[in-house]
Amino acid sequence: MKRIVMATGLGLLATGCASEQARSPDPAFVQSATQLADTYQANLQAELSAAMKQVGPVGAISVCQSVAPALAADLSSNGDLAVSRVARRNRNPDNAVPAELDALYQQLEREPLRDGKPHVVAATIGQREVFMRALPMKDQPCSQCHGTNIAPDVKAAIDASYPDDRATGFAAGDLRGAMLVMRAAP
Ligand code: HEC
Repeated sequence: MKRIVMATGLGLLATGCASEQARSPDPAFVQSATQLADTYQANLQAELSAAMKQVGPVGAISVCQSVAPALAADLSSNGDLAVSRVARRNRNPDNAVPAELDALYQQLEREPLRDGKPHVVAATIGQREVFMRALPMKDQPCSQCHGTNIAPDVKAAIDASYPDDRATGFAAGDLRGAMLVMRAAP
């Protein structure tokens, strides 16, 4: 059984083999992971709102499709941290939650917000340090492309690019996905 040590907020929860010594995530890792997730999120939001203004939701879909992975790859090429977005109900199957991170993701599903802020979990899993932060669904602009009532032209454009789309039907406050930052443990 894999040993997972999770620090959620101020609490520390240890699961797995009790005989093994627990390893908490390095606070310096959590700090730099937070910064990287912030940068990625801010850049994505800027690109998305510019695209929504310039080309509308239909055009913005292809911007998301090309910009989101490219930005993640670019930000992950600078150091030893890699950033991405993951979701169980994903639009792009490349963004699936890796099996070994499922327990962490479940924590966010149970409680997307904690003390009014996106829930953060951090753990050392195997040889890797892992940081995950909830991406709660918002009404605007998210619902135009992930909500319960998507305009037909937007829906058609989504289906054309993502035939296996599972990322609609979300309500504000639901867990839409998570920011994921990982580092190979020293
Ligand atoms: C213009 C339509 C559009 C809007 C608005 C939009 N998204 Fe998305 N979203 C997409 C597309 C397209 C993808 C797939 C990107 C890719 O191929 O990696 C995506 C992917 C995601 C993913 C990655 C996981 C997955 O499902 O593949 C998350 C998380 C996400 N969106 C959250 C949000 C949130 C939160 C908002 C509101 C702040 C939002 N999105 C607004 C179109 C949109």
